[in-house]
Order: sequence, then C-alpha cells, then structure tokens
Amino acid sequence: MIRWPVGFKGNTKPALPFLMALFEQTLETEIMSQTKPVPELTVQNRVLMGPGPSPVPPRVLAAMSLPLYGHLDPEFVKLMDQTQERLRQVFKTSNRLTLAVSGTGSAGMEAVVVNLIEPGDKMLVCVNGVFGERMCDVAERAGAQVIRIDRPYGQVFTPEEVELAIKLHHPALVGIVHAETSTGAWQPVEEIARIAHENGAMIAIDTVTSLAGVPVEIDGWDIDAVYSGTQKCLSCPPGLAPASFGERAMAKIKARKTKVQSWYLDLTMIEKYWGSDRFYHHTAPISMNYAIFEALGMVLEEGLEARHARHLLNHQALAAGIDALGMKYFTQQGHRLPQLNCVVIPDGVDDMTVRRRLLAEWGIEIGGGLGPVKGKAWRIGLMGHGSCPENVRLVLGALETSLRDLGAVKSEGAAVAAADSIYTSARG
Ligand SMILES: Cc1ncc(COP(=O)(O)O)c(C=O)c1O
Repeated sequence: MIRWPVGFKGNTKPALPFLMALFEQTLETEIMSQTKPVPELTVQNRVLMGPGPSPVPPRVLAAMSLPLYGHLDPEFVKLMDQTQERLRQVFKTSNRLTLAVSGTGSAGMEAVVVNLIEPGDKMLVCVNGVFGERMCDVAERAGAQVIRIDRPYGQVFTPEEVELAIKLHHPALVGIVHAETSTGAWQPVEEIARIAHENGAMIAIDTVTSLAGVPVEIDGWDIDAVYSGTQKCLSCPPGLAPASFGERAMAKIKARKTKVQSWYLDLTMIEKYWGSDRFYHHTAPISMNYAIFEALGMVLEEGLEARHARHLLNHQALAAGIDALGMKYFTQQGHRLPQLNCVVIPDGVDDMTVRRRLLAEWGIEIGGGLGPVKGKAWRIGLMGHGSCPENVRLVLGALETSLRDLGAVKSEGAAVAAADSIYTSARG
C-alpha cells in the first residue's frame, strides 16, 4: 500500500520532492520484502570413493575461490599458456593443440569425434563398456558410418581382434577407451595404434579415468587424438576436458570439406582462442581453469611415476582386503585399473542396502554397476587425492562390518589387516 508523503494534498499536482520521497519509500518497501534470509549452502562431508568425482584437495578448492580475470585479460591468457604446458607434460606430448575443452569428459569425447569425423567417414569403435557405447552414439550423431566390435564387459581387446576389423572395414578413425570406468578394464593401446597407422587409420583414445592414475604416453604411443576429464585422477572438480591433437588429426581438421557439426566444439574456432590469435569464441570458465592449473601443478609436483606407483600400491592393498573378504574382481585378471576397482557383489547381498549404509554411517560413496553390471558389482574408486591408505582402510572396514551384519562374511578386522600387510611389505 502507498503511504502518501506527509504534506501531499489530494488533488494538487505532486511536487518533485514529494515524488522523490514516494519513490524512495516504494524502493524501501521493495527491498525489505526481498531481504528475507535465504539459507546459505551447506554440504556434508563425503569420502568420495566411487567412479568420480574424486576428492578435491584444499589447494585446488582455494584456487577456485580467487577473484576472476576476464577471459581475455593478459594474466588469464598467460595462465592458459601455462596450463597448456602443464597439460603437455601430463599427456607426455609436444602437440601444439593441447587444451582444456570447456565441458566435462563427454565434451572431450564429442570434441574429438565431431572434429575428426565428416558425414560418411567410417569410424571403428571398440566397445567393452558403457563409454565405448557412448562413443558409438556420439559418432553416429556426427554422421559417421559406425562399425563396432564388442568384447564382454570387464574384458579387453587383443590387438589381433582390432586388426581384423581394421583390415576388413578400412576405417578412417579407430576409437577406444583406455580406462573403461564402467568395468575397471585397463586397455593396452600402443600396439593398436601401430596397427591403425599401418592400415591408414587414425586412433583416438579416451583417457578420462586413466590420466594421472596410470601411464599415458601420447607421443610415445603415437596417438592422434586424446581427451580426458578433470574429475578422476586429476582430483579437480568436473567441468573441463583436457584434450590434445597430433599432426595427422590437425591435417584432417584443416582438410575438412564440411563444417564441424557442433559450433561449440569446433576446434577450427576454439584453436584461435587457445592459440596466438586469442579470438573470443566462448567465455572460458575462469574458476575451473584456475582449478585445473593448480591440480596439474600438484600432479607434476608429485611426479607422474610416483603418482602411478601410489595408485598401484593402494590398489594392491585394497585388492588384498577384497580377497580377505572372499570377494572377487569383476575385471579380467592382468587388466585391472588401480584407480577403479570393480568387485562382484557377494551372492545374496543387496547392492543398495550396503551402499546406503556406507554413505549413512561412514560418509563413503562407492559406485554401483553400470549397464549390464548394475546390481552385480561395486566400483570402488581410488583416484587422485582419494588414493590413500586411510581411504583403503576405511572402505575395507566399512564393507567388512556391513557384510558381517548381513551374514555374508564372518571375519572381523581381516580385510584391514590384509591391506596393512601390503603396506608393511612395501615399506620393506
Ligand atoms: C571413460 C569415460 N569416458 C567418458 C566419460 C564422460 O565424462 P563426464 O561424465 O565427465 O562427461 C566418463 C565419465 O565417467 C568416463 O569414465
């Protein structure tokens, strides 16, 4: 309701001071009605031990709270150059076009596929899990003639199997997932890259879960295109997709006869922002770029070899505990990712009963199975900052307690003891 300012008389023309007072009063009423306290965001602590996101160290979180630069500020541009240099070190490549695509790992997958595929091009996709399936879908949408070969979930491809398909179909591009997060399978790719090149095809690999957890050698393996994600072994929040393109890939992009199907992921334009031209393409997610800069710094500070060794040791300790509980790995022996442990749920145990209890009582998140593995396996992530003895002990203790209460195991303390014996022998 309007309160007329004191002195205002009904049918006279309101003078300016009266109108001003009226305006101020209305504004005040408006502001008061808007300043109802709204609760601030609070979150609970979680021990992230699923398939990602992984825990983010305070140093990376702190970087995200720094004030923003503009996306063309000379200081931000310098940071982009330095980030590219750090990415090259982590990918082990000298590729000029090495960048952080704005978007999650799936954006990296799309960026690789839509830039290297023109409608009608043949793409061979190796499918042994959910992310191979996704690559087929992305390739089809980009107009590729998709040829897929399949291995059962949890198994890897032999070079001979891929060679047979390449020789039969003559694809322009071979796509394969290096670390299949849905099953924990660790796919060797070096030999497959050699075969692809011998037969005139390029190779693109998915390193979303492998980068900074197990060795990735883009130049050493002669990989044409690679993408990754921030939220796994880099221990950075989800939001960017590191990617890199070699000479053959760049030549293909330059020789395209058709426009890239996606405006947002068109590298012919994005390259001008990440390259020396610095043309505006889209507004870079500034805080995420701070985060990846810092996360990559932490990876390099630890050293890639030391980081891989840490992931391996914690995996071995977890595996010893899993074995002590009488549980089995879902994934083919000899091809198990240290950072993603896919274990079969014991007979008679309900997936959700255990996962809900882990979350409620210990704050632990582990992953359920995806696709055909749903309800049959758990995926225990030991990624980046989360790959540590404390987490291994915590999850093993929690699993043993939960399974014992369900009558699925009898032991008490056996799982943690088994893990500890691995740590003791590693100390020598
Ligand atoms: C192997 C693999 N590829 C691609 C993706 C897609 O990444 P995002 O969920 O970040 O889009 C994931 C995500 O878990 C993945 O594990």
